[in-house]
Amino acid sequence: MIRVDHAGEYGAVRIYEGQLAVFGKSQSKTAKAIRHMAQQEQDHLRAFDTLINERRVRPTALEPVWRVAGFALGAATALLGEKAAMACTAAVEEVIDDHYAQQVEELGSSDPALKETVQKFRADEIAHRDTALAHGAEAAPAYGLLSGAIKAGCRLAIALSTRL
Ligand SMILES: [Fe+2]
Ligand SMILES: [Fe+2]
Repeated sequence: MIRVDHAGEYGAVRIYEGQLAVFGKSQSKTAKAIRHMAQQEQDHLRAFDTLINERRVRPTALEPVWRVAGFALGAATALLGEKAAMACTAAVEEVIDDHYAQQVEELGSSDPALKETVQKFRADEIAHRDTALAHGAEAAPAYGLLSGAIKAGCRLAIALSTRL
């Protein structure tokens, strides 16, 4: 669980780095919202960095892949425009919401500390999804296609990072 979550939060950080590389110093409402979400993803990543170290979990071997793929996904969606960037967040967070919900259920009462972290981050991810929707994610060009492709990619990334 910690390996895949660490990988996912790293991917999230890279997606926002890709988007912000495109949006630069833009002061638009969307760019500001993205900077705020990016900051929270840094906090999530830091927490899982600590857990990886404390519990001696092997990090995913796919980190170099997520490094490039995350950044590319962020930059590509940002190049399509602010609404497409937000469509990316909405799609990713929908999958992560499910993923974290499933972990909370699996954890039951076995690991209260980890469970609390996952629950807290899940609430942040749901807020990110809502922010993305509020910023017009669904009005992005080819929203259905874009969203479906990104969700499929995220599910694959989760499956791979759980094992590798
Ligand atoms: Fe996160
Ligand atoms: Fe998020």
